[in-house]
Amino acid sequence: MSTDVGLATATGQTAPTPGPAATEAAAGQPNRVARLLGVRIPIVQAPMTYIARAELAAAVSNAGALGIIETSSPQGRADLRRVRDLTDAPVGANVALAIRRDPSVIDLLVEAGIRTVFTSAGDPNLLTGRLHDAGLTVFHVVGSLRAARKAVDAGVDGLVVEGIEGGGFKSAKSASTLVLLPLVASQVSLPIIAAGGICDGRSMAAAVVLGAEGVQMGTRMLASRESPLHDNLKNAVVGAQETSTVLLSVPGLPTMRVLRTEAAERVLAAGQPVVGLDGVQRLYFGGDLTASLANTGQVAGRIERVERVADIIHQTWAGCREILAAASARAAGWHATD
Ligand SMILES: Cc1cc2nc3c(=O)[nH]c(=O)nc-3n(C[C@H](O)[C@H](O)[C@H](O)COP(=O)(O)O)c2cc1C
Repeated sequence: MSTDVGLATATGQTAPTPGPAATEAAAGQPNRVARLLGVRIPIVQAPMTYIARAELAAAVSNAGALGIIETSSPQGRADLRRVRDLTDAPVGANVALAIRRDPSVIDLLVEAGIRTVFTSAGDPNLLTGRLHDAGLTVFHVVGSLRAARKAVDAGVDGLVVEGIEGGGFKSAKSASTLVLLPLVASQVSLPIIAAGGICDGRSMAAAVVLGAEGVQMGTRMLASRESPLHDNLKNAVVGAQETSTVLLSVPGLPTMRVLRTEAAERVLAAGQPVVGLDGVQRLYFGGDLTASLANTGQVAGRIERVERVADIIHQTWAGCREILAAASARAAGWHATD
């Protein structure tokens, strides 16, 4: 029930107070996610170790969405400062809790002027309280309803709900975005950013219908013009089909969704990490597809070309609103069948 008290008008009558949605839209921020992130467009460039670097994040933030810097590598941590030379817009940071549990990372974030942190891969109780004490907003990445409830109990401000079709480390027991997102949205009232399988307006609109107020894109962003990846890997993503990834789950490696390269086939056949992540920088920056495993989402099958980040963001946001309006107009016709 609305708790709006209404505004007294000059005639003494009471006009309805604009609700939170109208107020956010008037401020150029369409919803709770945009407001929490401090951006106009509720799209987030996904955290990706070694890839979520200053140039990529700045391009996303300069386009009106939120770029993210990873803090798992020394290069990423150095970019928390370097990105300030590239944009005045808000930029977020990722803390992968399995890798950086040490609270000293919070000082780095505060010194760099970061206001929003995306925690992932670990227990949200570890740092949420301290991040809040330092004045930061916390979104936590979850891959199940149980994890979502735990994050709510830990006091996070919002959730990134990620389905198993997404690229990167996963739980082998996770569910697809189409199942997980509406499930979490029906049980949790926190603002939700959807991740896993999103690359354009159509998929963003679907996420909004399923309960999200924003989306996070990983695979689409790693294949963008401003991504630091070698062209060999960008071209492999563009050339991929929807069947070209595999959820790799072998002892000695985190479960992860990767491109079905020759290296991935070798690991699958051996059932053990005959190729691991040690050579990942040779893969990412030298373009040697045999050097490591290429974390990539199923959505690679929908990415047709390498484009500029600003074009990706603006086409996705405009496309999302057009598709929602068109779907709503189509559904209006269905009432005639009642
Ligand atoms: C190459 C790669 C590296 C990633 N590294 C991280 C990471 O360091 N931290 C993290 O929270 N998520 C990481 N992820 C997951 C992404 O943040 C994101 O949630 C996922 O890519 C979304 O699915 P999509 O690929 O379908 O867009 C990674 C994903 C990819 C593809």
